[in-house]
Amino acid sequence: MEFPITRLRRLRRTEPMRSLVRETHLEPGALIYPLFLCPGEGVRNEIASMPGVFNLSVDEAVKEAEAAASLGIGGLLLFGLPESKDEQATGAWAEDGIVQRGLRALKQTSAAKKLVLIADVCLCEYTSHGHCGIVEKKEGVLETDYEIENDSSLSLLSKTAVSLAKAGADIVAPSDMMDGRVAAVRDELDDEGLDQTPILSYAAKFASAFYGPFREAADSAPQFGDRRSYQMDGANLREAMREIDLDLGEGADMILMKPALPYLDVIRAARERFDVPIGAYQVSGEYSMLQAAFANRWLDRDRAMMESLLSIRRAGAGFIVTYFAKEAAKALG
Ligand code: PBG
Repeated sequence: MEFPITRLRRLRRTEPMRSLVRETHLEPGALIYPLFLCPGEGVRNEIASMPGVFNLSVDEAVKEAEAAASLGIGGLLLFGLPESKDEQATGAWAEDGIVQRGLRALKQTSAAKKLVLIADVCLCEYTSHGHCGIVEKKEGVLETDYEIENDSSLSLLSKTAVSLAKAGADIVAPSDMMDGRVAAVRDELDDEGLDQTPILSYAAKFASAFYGPFREAADSAPQFGDRRSYQMDGANLREAMREIDLDLGEGADMILMKPALPYLDVIRAARERFDVPIGAYQVSGEYSMLQAAFANRWLDRDRAMMESLLSIRRAGAGFIVTYFAKEAAKALG
């Protein structure tokens, strides 16, 4: 039936009417709030390229967790800035590592009962060279004179996951993109009696320019080269499906897609193909470019923020990691 019988505008006339026929909804419980833990006390350093995002000492992170819990936010994703870095990423798996200390402190708060504490598992914040794996010097193999070693990195990653789970992480989330790391992490967790700790795998993580501001926040920019030999080529959707397939086969309980906005088609494809919980990460660059536009009054703050989150949800993400979590939860009331 066509015009004039069908008039789609009939259902758009009032907000109650629009609300009745709305297909996609956001709720605070579907938002995950990333925190960057740093040494010290009373530290709250704003990240220049990410207005409203801070490096927080553990005591300040506890306050932030309480605020997040009272807003109904679903969980936290924890990153760490260690006191010192080395080639073995010691700070990632040390018993008294910064995220391990943070987890122990957070676990003692009442906020922790309402929040899922997710620990990012990666080495790049803890290695002196800033890569996500062990660097091996190798002349003439690639266009570079080094290689990011896959298999020797796996034991450090699984050691890190175990240490974070023991410190209180409810979920471990490997984001390094080494092959076989989900199986290695699962194996080590099970060996240590942590068979109830779920793995959220950053299954399809693209080598993206949109991670720029994060590398300032986490002080994790590679000192040489880039991450294109381990993170995915942004052109490849079919390969992303293979990554997810492999990670699920290795025992991932849920998957995370990243970045979000420039890869909505990949999120949609994953949603249609895999029946597991899927999250998406609205990464630092996505946040910063919106913040830059807000600062210039080029975009309406609340509307652009909510539209970006809604589009990620509509594409198929069940939950969203976002630096807007607190602001969006407030707007959702
Ligand atoms: C660690 C990691 C990164 C991000 C999440 N985990 C950085 C990277 O891969 O360089 C990026 C998150 C963001 O940009 O907000 N490997």
